[in-house]
Amino acid sequence: MKKNGFVFAVTLLLTQVFSPAMANASPMTPFRWDLAPAMDSQENFVNWMQQNRHEDPGFLVQRWRRYLAVVAVKDATDERVKEAFLWTPREEFVRPINRSHSYDSAFLDIGYGVTISGPHLVAHMTSALEVKQGDKVLEIGTGSGYQSAYLSHLTDKLWTIEIIKPLAERTRGVYDGLIAKGYSEFSAINSKQGDGYYGWPEAAPFDKIIVTCGIDHIPPPLLQQLKPGGIMVIPVGPPGAQHVLKVIKQQAADGALTVSRSDIYNGRVVPFVPFKKLEGDVIKGAH
Ligand SMILES: C[S@@+](CC[C@H](N)C(=O)[O-])C[C@H]1O[C@@H](n2cnc3c(N)ncnc32)[C@H](O)[C@@H]1O
Repeated sequence: MKKNGFVFAVTLLLTQVFSPAMANASPMTPFRWDLAPAMDSQENFVNWMQQNRHEDPGFLVQRWRRYLAVVAVKDATDERVKEAFLWTPREEFVRPINRSHSYDSAFLDIGYGVTISGPHLVAHMTSALEVKQGDKVLEIGTGSGYQSAYLSHLTDKLWTIEIIKPLAERTRGVYDGLIAKGYSEFSAINSKQGDGYYGWPEAAPFDKIIVTCGIDHIPPPLLQQLKPGGIMVIPVGPPGAQHVLKVIKQQAADGALTVSRSDIYNGRVVPFVPFKKLEGDVIKGAH
């Protein structure tokens, strides 16, 4: 009896000590194209994500509330773009000091003099890109990595270029850490350090190109690497005062190429960090 009582007490203790750890040790449900988080209420979304993705309920509530705001002002209208917003853990891409501000409607400092764009702007630009599953997408300006992480829920063919070497390396580390945790969708992101003005010729042509730094013209190499029928979203204008353009490259039956442009904010000025220039290994001025 005494021995049985001891065994019972030890078993109970072990169960209490190890159960929570064992529950968390269950593998995270990987992202799948045919799977969606619950989107009918905050409670169901948070529960679904906690159970399947093991994410922090506090951040999930904030993500849900920002999602409602993004949808309310029509920064995301397409169902896939809305769903992708809910899949993407923005809190993993901001600096630790700013984690509590992850879902604020604001850009945030990510070091090296650059920023992660605000969630509304990212959703709006992503919507304008009209990404279809299987599209080849190039991003110029990896920064925190959030934009490409968002896009990885819309296509599995992504390339991204960042000019600041330590930032490119840090963000690669963030992706690799998250892939190891179970965010297998981020394996679709090919990243490198370099001057994005010249695109990524070895991976071209692209169906879509998104530029997240501001410039006063459309870089000819990027236009050249865009497929006919392809879309580029790019902030164009003088320093700190760009218009976000949706550029569509069209090809006529006789092969002639034309380019149409529209302002995705109907004339509103949106400031971006400058599209910098690399000379050798050194960043010198802007394009
Ligand atoms: C608004 S920030 C980052 C936004 C980013 N997409 C994100 O999700 O955090 C723009 C980024 O463009 C980068 N950048 C500027 N000029 C560049 C260039 N010539 N080639 C590649 N990246 C560049 C900056 O260093 C910065 O990280």
